[in-house]
Amino acid sequence: MTNDVLIIGGGVIGLAIAIELKLRGKKVTVLSRDFHAAATHAAAGMLAPDAENISNQAMQELCWRSRSIYADWTHKLEQLTGLNTGYWPCGILAPVFSGEEGVKSFSPSPHLPTSLSSSTAYWLDREAIHQYQLGLGEEVVGGWWYPEDAQVDNRALAKALLSAVQSLGVELKEGTATEGIIQQQGQVVGVQTNAGIWRAEHYVLATGAWSNQLFPLPVRPIKGQMLSVRVPEFLAEFPLARILFGRDIYIVPRRDRRIIIGATSEDVGFTGQNTPAGIQTLLQHAIRLYPQIQHYPIEELWWGFRPATPDELPILGTGPCQNLTFAVGHYRNGILLAPITAALIADLICEQKSDSLLSHFHYSRFQTKSSTPNQMLTHTANVPHSPTAPLPDAPPLVSTSTSVPLPITDTPLVIAGKTFTSRLMTGTGKYRSIEEMQQSVVESGCQIVTVAVRRVQTNAPGHEGLAEALDWTKIWMLPNTAGCKTAEEAIRVARLGREMAKLLGQEDNNFVKLEVIPDPKYLLPDPIGTLQAAEQLVKEGFAVLPYINADPMLAKHLEEVGCATVMPLASPIGSGQGLKTIANIQIIIENAKVPVVVDAGIGSPSEAAQAMEMGADALLINSAIALAQNPPLMARAMNMAAVAGRLAYLAGRMPIKNYANASSPLTGTITN
Ligand code: GLY
Repeated sequence: MTNDVLIIGGGVIGLAIAIELKLRGKKVTVLSRDFHAAATHAAAGMLAPDAENISNQAMQELCWRSRSIYADWTHKLEQLTGLNTGYWPCGILAPVFSGEEGVKSFSPSPHLPTSLSSSTAYWLDREAIHQYQLGLGEEVVGGWWYPEDAQVDNRALAKALLSAVQSLGVELKEGTATEGIIQQQGQVVGVQTNAGIWRAEHYVLATGAWSNQLFPLPVRPIKGQMLSVRVPEFLAEFPLARILFGRDIYIVPRRDRRIIIGATSEDVGFTGQNTPAGIQTLLQHAIRLYPQIQHYPIEELWWGFRPATPDELPILGTGPCQNLTFAVGHYRNGILLAPITAALIADLICEQKSDSLLSHFHYSRFQTKSSTPNQMLTHTANVPHSPTAPLPDAPPLVSTSTSVPLPITDTPLVIAGKTFTSRLMTGTGKYRSIEEMQQSVVESGCQIVTVAVRRVQTNAPGHEGLAEALDWTKIWMLPNTAGCKTAEEAIRVARLGREMAKLLGQEDNNFVKLEVIPDPKYLLPDPIGTLQAAEQLVKEGFAVLPYINADPMLAKHLEEVGCATVMPLASPIGSGQGLKTIANIQIIIENAKVPVVVDAGIGSPSEAAQAMEMGADALLINSAIALAQNPPLMARAMNMAAVAGRLAYLAGRMPIKNYANASSPLTGTITN
């Protein structure tokens, strides 16, 4: 029998939905790539809508509703499995330091509840808070008490969910990585995994921070580092019986004497590991808030990735295909929101009942409101106005007079955790004048401009005054190692590039476009030197964007050593020969999990569009713009081509047929 529902993602959200659907009679399978990588495992388990100070009303409501059913939900799970989930309505104390926001400008009488619609908060003054919780830091001058916030032991909860899934007969395929969602005619017809194709009537995407690897949803990872200490056994009395929630820190005591300390919030992509800086910050904040902690033995360090959306709200409900439902992007509140998510998603799938709250979390809120897709994706850099006449306005790509806005679901380009809306990168070389270059950069709508570090250093023609020519607060610099013949040279120049970006105010810019090119005639990159340099630069913390021949195996190796993109050439640099390596680029696109940027050789907008139609994530075009008779006009054409190609890729081209097929169907025509 085929599955009724296939859930992609085996974290707390996926498992909670699976259990709810199974209890409502569905045959359910869960595909889980790596249970331990899920944020579920890394979380602290706070159920803290009040302490988290959620400002969005719909989100507040969703969180409160989930918190209100948590006790019953965990109780049922415990009955079903015989396992404890560590649910503990312990409340949260949010101390504040003097001078910190939150020290009461608004002050209800001490100890009187302040009704927050469906929640309760008490202000405790200095004396009251130190009396209520012994051992707080001396700088604490008061704080809020949120009695309705609670906690669950997320790892114990995860065990209980897994056990419930098993005992209820949900099929759980751990170690099964979903590689793609197969769609036909607006329906999902299967998912491609490392263990073959899986099919079901309905599909649920619950893939947390990894969601946009499968579907163009604006979900990105926000890393959180954490640690735990243990209260020594010789302390007869457990000193902490509630969560402490400070600014940038929380301290969560468990009943088994563990104390969880969290969490950093870092926009660094999927960069794993704990760092000395991360742990130092946590410890500093934790000791300031609750000094006793400095004496407790450290037990464990770990990290995880929160699934964040641009508005920090989850994406819930029906997707663009009728049989695909989204349950992703729970950001800081995945553990809290599991029961309500499961209930609302099950209502939707089993009864087609859409709770009114769901409308606030629909994925379509991220679709453009613009009816001209070029506006949606372009970016205007703030560079000085060119003295030349302005370009004529581009014709709208979609008629604005009669058509309603076209819903377009696309995610921005994300490279090494940094987000870009434009998918066209340009360069600064070969222009006839600096003004032409400036205007072309504006017209291209690009947000990334590559700059040859060596040419800037030597003040080569066209590279004088580059620092002042572009507004580096708006344009992200991509230093490149052009002119380097060996790996060693490229590594040296990359380091200089990083300094150059810093000098221009881009402190956190660690990007480098790696070029190792020993051959002066065809300017073909050296694969071995490139791989060696990439490996070293990744180790040094660079986001490496390697320029390569279109070699799928090399692309794979570069991805494996940690490159942020791969940049296969379409044909030799500056040749304008167009897409000569198309078959290999196609293979690279099919296999790459990092963005594929087609670089070099594109000569015309039709070639740019074709590369994007194939599914390239972005393009880098310099010569075709700089050497055009009218570079700014060509820059605009390339901008539109990149957008058109991307839209065509999202739209999906018609199949190619061997024979003609009349445009007007023949059914219903009068034949005699
Ligand atoms: N829920 C707390 C955090 O995400 O750090």
